[in-house]
Amino acid sequence: MSNKIFLNDNLVDIEEAKISVFDRGYLFSDGIYELIPFFKGKPFLLEDHYKRLERSLDMVDISNPYSKAEWKDKIDRFTKENDYKNFSLYIQITRGVPSDFSDGIFREHAATKKYTSSVTMFTSEIKGFPSFAPKREKAIILDDKRWLQCDIKSISLIYNAYAKTLASRSEAYEAILVRNNNITEGCSSNVFIVKDNVIKTCPKTNLILPGITRSFIINQIIKKNNYKFKEENFSLNELKSADEIFVTNSTQGVIEINKLDDKEIGNGEFGPISKKIYENFVESVN
Ligand code: PDD
Repeated sequence: MSNKIFLNDNLVDIEEAKISVFDRGYLFSDGIYELIPFFKGKPFLLEDHYKRLERSLDMVDISNPYSKAEWKDKIDRFTKENDYKNFSLYIQITRGVPSDFSDGIFREHAATKKYTSSVTMFTSEIKGFPSFAPKREKAIILDDKRWLQCDIKSISLIYNAYAKTLASRSEAYEAILVRNNNITEGCSSNVFIVKDNVIKTCPKTNLILPGITRSFIINQIIKKNNYKFKEENFSLNELKSADEIFVTNSTQGVIEINKLDDKEIGNGEFGPISKKIYENFVESVN
């Protein structure tokens, strides 16, 4: 593997990609990220990912280090360098490192100084795509203990990472999160249920990340195919008694959940609606 890391406009080897310990991303998780899938070397829904990146930056008041045209050019040049055909591009922007320590203060909560943003990009292979078979996986259920601005793609993922670790210890793909008895999302995906042929997902609020795959599936697959669909809150009981559950994200597309903790969902077969949506999704990215 000869892939490089993009670090503040330089392409460097993995071992050379180093950031200051005074970077506010390191000290305070003061930064945002974006993750863009590439299939057959081409970005999927780049424009939507870029809009979300701009929105996340705005919401935490970090200025965008590049213009849109500069981003496109840098992403294009950087991803052409990499060895994979199907991969995710991870982009992280932090508020960065203070330009001056002459006051002897190395760490302060308030961002009162001038900072140079740190921009990092790297790629990870998405294996087995586009011909991979639909996946069926287990999920666990956990309380949603995150902050109330889950719509920002913040690098502060401590609870998401903790939840995913607990899931992985239970040999589950995902942890589905519950707040005030309603399902919000998975710790790395959006959640849909199917009951009596009606598909449901919770509305876009500050309590979930507005997933790019979620919007694509709603607008380009569910609505175009005239499925019965409701964007409304659903309870933990509704999740548990669903006929089908599926989760969506940029790296996996659509994954059916066939087991919630130790309870089987559905009848042991891939749910017919989840399967159709999975198939439509694979066709769209091909
Ligand atoms: N995460 N909700 C959360 C909490 C997520 O972390 C993700 C994706 C999604 C789905 O968003 P999208 O469809 O835009 O990928 C929803 C990515 C994969 C990550 O953090 O690596």
